[in-house]
Amino acid sequence: MLSEKMTEALNDQANRELYSSYLYLSMSAFFESLKFEGMASWMRVQAAEELVHAMKMYDYMVSAGGRAKMLAVEAPQFSWASPVVVFQNVWNHERVVTGLINNLANLAIQENDEVTKSFLQWYLKEQVEEEESSDNVLNSVKTAGNDHEALKEVDKALGLRRFNFPKGYDIFPYVSRQGITIGSLKK
Ligand SMILES: [Fe+2]
Ligand SMILES: [Fe+2]
Repeated sequence: MLSEKMTEALNDQANRELYSSYLYLSMSAFFESLKFEGMASWMRVQAAEELVHAMKMYDYMVSAGGRAKMLAVEAPQFSWASPVVVFQNVWNHERVVTGLINNLANLAIQENDEVTKSFLQWYLKEQVEEEESSDNVLNSVKTAGNDHEALKEVDKALGLRRFNFPKGYDIFPYVSRQGITIGSLKK
């Protein structure tokens, strides 16, 4: 059974995961407006992954006897100065989230909640991957700088990103605006 404190903290984190999804969708829309379709697609994948993070937390809370609460989702930033600034924002954001998950894991220890502590291991591992990928993408966009041709090459490469929804979390058939299937259900 989840303590009240733990439930509240998990609800807050599920809300931050939804915010992350919203933020990446806002970034996707920004890239659509710049006609960087590959970057828009990459961000769309990122937004879908964050929805899965939120839903996994929701399901855990419900199955552990907690009461999931839908809190207001903050409106994300709408516009950025350049592609590099967007990916710098992704880089920063993922590190903030890692801090939040660490705090949550520490709270589980304080609350003597072994089950939640082990549940959170998945998120901690996921953050290692998120930090690494944000590093890689930021580096490639930084290298391209303001060179439009080079940015278009990065755009093309980022447009190749695909992902598999974990079983039970196939939100919907996931297709980019260009009609390319970017997410499918894991077999
Ligand atoms: Fe997340
Ligand atoms: Fe993330």
